Amino acid sequence: MKQKSLRTSNLNILAFETSCDDTAVAIVKNGREVLSSSVFSQIKTHIEYGGVVPEIAARSHLNNIFQVTKQTFESSNLKLEDINLVAVTCEPGLLSSLLVGINFAEGFALSRDLELIPVNHLKGHVASLYISNKNLEPPFLCLIVSGGHTQIVEVKNYVNIKILGQTRDDAAGEIFDKVTRKLGLDYPGGTHIDEIADNGIDNFYKFPRPKLQKYDFSFSGIKTHTLNLINNLKSELIIENLLASFRKSVVDYLIFNLTKAAQDLNYRKIAISGGVSANKLLRETLELECKKRNWEYFKPELKYSGDNAAMIGSQAYYEYLNKIKKVK
Ligand code: KG4
Ligand code: ZN
Repeated sequence: MKQKSLRTSNLNILAFETSCDDTAVAIVKNGREVLSSSVFSQIKTHIEYGGVVPEIAARSHLNNIFQVTKQTFESSNLKLEDINLVAVTCEPGLLSSLLVGINFAEGFALSRDLELIPVNHLKGHVASLYISNKNLEPPFLCLIVSGGHTQIVEVKNYVNIKILGQTRDDAAGEIFDKVTRKLGLDYPGGTHIDEIADNGIDNFYKFPRPKLQKYDFSFSGIKTHTLNLINNLKSELIIENLLASFRKSVVDYLIFNLTKAAQDLNYRKIAISGGVSANKLLRETLELECKKRNWEYFKPELKYSGDNAAMIGSQAYYEYLNKIKKVK
């Protein structure tokens, strides 16, 4: 089918993100201006299982995506005909959840005769930085830290990222969630860690730091050591001190590899994104490290650090410009 030819300015992109447990829809203008963004979180549905149940997540996306889309239009004051392009997260993620978003987006695009842009979720997390930092342009070095991923990437240009290092086992957010779950905190535990850890002594317990090749991570040793401390110390365990020491060991490890990569590759522009980039200690420690070295430091606003569709709409804009050869 021949699609409508498009302009490259005043481009309103309707974006969908359903890769995990958030049903998110947004309308983004020209890659950087969010006209409307809605996120329906399924946390309450998954809380009793202590984590995301894929089958339940997909069904919940199905039940909610229409309403979330309607709400996104209502709060934008835009009409269906104001949309010029449709975007959707295509990978990575829970397959059945991704398919809900992809099918819905395809249906919308077909019905309006619009082009559909598939977007990689991790590139989307990088693009969250463009929304919150209007002057940020590639190249820069970015740490993507979420519940499913921990990667140090070179953002070479708007559409190409190169993975320099990544976790070989658990992701950083995943071990925050597993440790806090063991302590009886609600899923996702990472979101509660700052408030408890802020009241603890951060060098009270010691943790291993695996040294791998280049900039790779391994978090399973830190996780197992923490779970063993909880099992062995029982009533002697001081939870505030444990979480403070655990949080610091993870944050220091992330920053150690990131600054090493920046030094080796001569990057002076550093960024963080993904759900774990909401972590207070990570945000503040990295800011100090960058100041010390005179490096520029970029982070997403808290509302765009976790999963959202605005970041997908932003990345789709650059993917589209690249397709029609307007960016390098
Ligand atoms: O990016 P995201 O929303 O979803 C994925 O793509 O995985 O990240 C979710 C992860 C969860 O593991 C959650 O515990 C973690 O981000 N998280 C945090 C904080 N807020 C969310 N981890 C540490 N500190 C936080 N403040
Ligand atoms: Zn994510």
